[in-house]
Amino acid sequence: MSADLEPSVKPIVTIPPVITIDGPSGSGKGTIAHRLAVKLGFHVLDSGALYRLLALAAQQHGVQNNNEAALQVLAAHLDAQFQDNQGEAMLVLEGEDVTHSIRTEEIGAAASKVAALPSVREALLQRQHAFRETPGLVADGRDMGTVVFPDASLKIFLTASAEARAERRYKQLIGKGFAADLAAIVEDIKARDLRDSQRAVSPLKPADDAIVLDSTALGIEAVLSKVWEAAQNTPNLQQFLTKQ
Ligand code: DC
Repeated sequence: MSADLEPSVKPIVTIPPVITIDGPSGSGKGTIAHRLAVKLGFHVLDSGALYRLLALAAQQHGVQNNNEAALQVLAAHLDAQFQDNQGEAMLVLEGEDVTHSIRTEEIGAAASKVAALPSVREALLQRQHAFRETPGLVADGRDMGTVVFPDASLKIFLTASAEARAERRYKQLIGKGFAADLAAIVEDIKARDLRDSQRAVSPLKPADDAIVLDSTALGIEAVLSKVWEAAQNTPNLQQFLTKQ
């Protein structure tokens, strides 16, 4: 058969679906994203961890948080991996396990500063897109639904009052045996919210088509069931929900 007589077979290209969960620090988005990804068998992207890894790398290499040119280079060549450690994410920076050391308040505040730099965000964009793999992705952060995955199938914006988020953080620290000052945590959270939502690029804000959920008075299970209900009402997620 000559080439032009062969039936044309077009490959069916399916782009893996994405669910985005954006919101401020302490809103519970990380826990919800992880639980949802496990329920669906999806991959998960903790985009805040990328900014935290960059902030830690900058600290280790003596790069200041406002040195945009050096931070852009560091971001483009960031030697970091997200590895699976029995279902939990293990974060490795330049060969070292930094899973816990990136979670300090100091690194969180530094991450919020480096994240305000446009060329840093641009340098990390491609890396975030690479997480979109079959069968699908749950991505959490600040700009997942607005900038990184604007075509996401379902967008959730999870919020809670600064006081409720501070109290959760306070209980977490006390539970781990650390000393904590509730008033100072409230102030830190408010300062970070302000920086994250007032920056010029990719500010913290719900996408126009996001479902906004306020978790101030809701526990994790209640939030998860609302998100699950939203997924059930999303046509191109149907095939993944039948697993449950
Ligand atoms: O979610 P988190 O607290 O781990 O994020 C740390 C900081 O990173 C946060 O203060 C703002 C920044 N960030 C961002 O600018 N964009 C994202 N998509 C995720 C986090």
